[in-house]
Amino acid sequence: MTTTLDISITKIKESRLSHYDVNNVAFGKCFTDHMFVAEYANGQWEKAYIQPYADVPLSYAMSALHYGQAIFEGMKAYKNEKGEVSLFRPLANQKRLNKSAVRMAMPEVPEELFMSGLSELLKLDAGWVPTSETGSLYIRPFLIATDEAIGVKISDTYKFIIICCPAGKYYSEPIKVLVETDFFRAVHGGVGFVKAAGNYGRSMYPTRLAQQKGYQQVIWTDSETHKYFEESGTMNVMFVINDTLLTPALSDTILDGVTRNSVLALARDWGMKVEERKVSIEEVMTAVEAGKLQEMFGCGTAATIAQIVGIGYNGKDYDLPPVVDRKFSTKVDEELRNIRKGRSADKFGWMLKVS
Ligand code: COI
Repeated sequence: MTTTLDISITKIKESRLSHYDVNNVAFGKCFTDHMFVAEYANGQWEKAYIQPYADVPLSYAMSALHYGQAIFEGMKAYKNEKGEVSLFRPLANQKRLNKSAVRMAMPEVPEELFMSGLSELLKLDAGWVPTSETGSLYIRPFLIATDEAIGVKISDTYKFIIICCPAGKYYSEPIKVLVETDFFRAVHGGVGFVKAAGNYGRSMYPTRLAQQKGYQQVIWTDSETHKYFEESGTMNVMFVINDTLLTPALSDTILDGVTRNSVLALARDWGMKVEERKVSIEEVMTAVEAGKLQEMFGCGTAATIAQIVGIGYNGKDYDLPPVVDRKFSTKVDEELRNIRKGRSADKFGWMLKVS
């Protein structure tokens, strides 16, 4: 197995950092100086290196492009007031990557390889981590099948790559969502519970239709009955009704979100009533009409907490309570920031200092 000692490092000749204001860049468009690459062939991880961020030569025939043997993770690093850089729950992402790998018949990435690649990369690119209140370094580990072969078969070769980009808020404003009952994100027995690239590709068309109607995102429903909420866009979804936090229970159609898990942990720690179960459209829309829906929000690594202020269902638009009245999601958003920025005690042991 590859260890830290095996990672060869080629540093960039001249950093590009001075070309950017990392506290003020669009999400996902500016990349740090370096990237980590590990190569899998002959049944094992053979090579690991850090090199300057660059386009890499890959075959146009490679399996990831044609048949979607491609998975990814999203995670973040934060800088505290002392300038120290820490990762938020990195092992949760490493474990989920491997869950995705198993489902997609890809090789697992050993914890040691994942963590040593990540920490070496962050030591080099620590200067790129934003210091602004809502800023972070978004980290994108991904695993792709690289066999140059058009026949449909499990690839024999893979690349595991980590790239990073400074990021501010994913959504600059609270969002409006459309309840989607024609198209589905996931089906039982499928890959909805993993971060397979195809889950995102299939969502583009329904999202475009919703955007043409004035919504920023769709809210997915279950494919069998169309009666239950699943996720919202690329996020898990949560509701507060009667002071109870509700969220769809995990299943093979719902991603086990790290932010979802963290929000639930904080809510339980604060003594809030939490229910992870099927959440029906009917109960939520009844609560909306009776003025009993207190909060609705999406949560995910990129978006953190995204307030949902409008919902479209069955041809009708409903306004949801204003963000200023949302006590729980405002508090949880603030507490997550405080933990990540080192201002609140890390009582769950979520932060891992890397530099
Ligand atoms: C994340 O929150 O990290 C995601 O995976 C969403 C995204 C595709 C930007």
